[in-house]
Amino acid sequence: MSQTPHDLTQECVKVSLGNRSYDILIGRDLMKKAGQEITSRLPNARATIITDENVAEHYLKPLSASLKEHGIDVEPLILSAGEKTKNYENMARVCDHILECKLERGDAVIALGGGVIGDLTGFAAGIVRRGMKLIQVPTSLLAQVDSSVGGKTGINTGAGKNLVGVFHQPQLVLVDTNTLDTLSDREMRAGYAEVAKYGLIDRPDFFEWLEKSWQGIFSGGPERIQAIATSCQAKADVVAADEEEHGCRALLNLGHTFGHALEAATKYDSTRLVHGEGVSIGMVLAYKFSARMNLASPDDAVRVEQHLKQVGLPISLNDIDGELPPTDILMEHIAQDKKVSRGDLTFILTKGIGQSFIANNVPADEVRRFIEETRNNR
Ligand code: NAD
Ligand code: GLY
Repeated sequence: MSQTPHDLTQECVKVSLGNRSYDILIGRDLMKKAGQEITSRLPNARATIITDENVAEHYLKPLSASLKEHGIDVEPLILSAGEKTKNYENMARVCDHILECKLERGDAVIALGGGVIGDLTGFAAGIVRRGMKLIQVPTSLLAQVDSSVGGKTGINTGAGKNLVGVFHQPQLVLVDTNTLDTLSDREMRAGYAEVAKYGLIDRPDFFEWLEKSWQGIFSGGPERIQAIATSCQAKADVVAADEEEHGCRALLNLGHTFGHALEAATKYDSTRLVHGEGVSIGMVLAYKFSARMNLASPDDAVRVEQHLKQVGLPISLNDIDGELPPTDILMEHIAQDKKVSRGDLTFILTKGIGQSFIANNVPADEVRRFIEETRNNR
């Protein structure tokens, strides 16, 4: 696919991983085709659906009906919605549920929901019977462009986000873009942060296109499928090149070290901050920090800030409700984030729009001073 999105109504992006390659199908009303798409890839498989209460209300029936049409009866498990669900206790619940359904290794565990359900279900599917077939049916924009693709699964612990998990690739990612019609405006914006991320990493033309076309993505115009397909293609390229993050996959963490620290600092309280909002603030901070280190022009940081602000995303610490913990605690969260190699800080920094790079050995003192200055400007 070219860097600048083209017109399309339905798209298939391939994640090329040898005999573990899989399709990401993107289009309107795809939920209706779920049974057909799953049975064509996993003939005779049985299945279960793991979802959350919000998503179940809208999509459990249509997905179950499509599976039933193809001879698959499912016993679903419906969990509470929200980041706090991604924990040990619910991981055990999902594992026990899969076993209670008497599913075998070749059967399908279907994650129907946002990134929380996808990460948690993917983890359980990766460890029950040493690895079951996983189908991702992402329903939030964030899950459609990021978390459902690439096989990272996991849960949060007291020590931090996503610190326990496995790589486990799905057999299929089925993106029904109509599901975004019921997503809240706030969650839609949060997902958009990850869309913009792909432009900011290495697709400057895409970022420029987003600056002009973002409204069509939100209103459900043809730009929506284009943006999701371009984002999935960007992620698929990186995953194919570096599945287990020994190199370039780390670029996908642009904005995430600051973002994860802010999520931990706000105790994963989604009334204060959701993941994509943390990424939005984190990307602005990464661009500002890069400018402070004389790596990028301050004008680029302003451009990023202006665009994210225009779509209604938070862009500074000031935009987070309530008090944040002291800088020492924020630094501890930053050091605990998994992008740390033997104590050195690794950040994704940038030389400009679409020119991000992995910066190892970033001096912790510089980061601390930058956070202090940022806080003083609150
Ligand atoms: P989420 O799963 O909590 O979904 C956000 C909210 O939207 C929830 O309340 C959910 O019930 C609701 N929702 C989802 N789809 C809906 C729909 N169509 N209609 C109505 N409501 C709907 O959060 P998220 O933003 O989707 O995902 C965030 C999670 O993804 C974080 O845990 C993050 O760490 C993880 N993540 C993982 C990866 C990865 O590569 N595995 C990448 C990025 C993010
Ligand atoms: N979202 C980061 C990754 O998948 O690697």
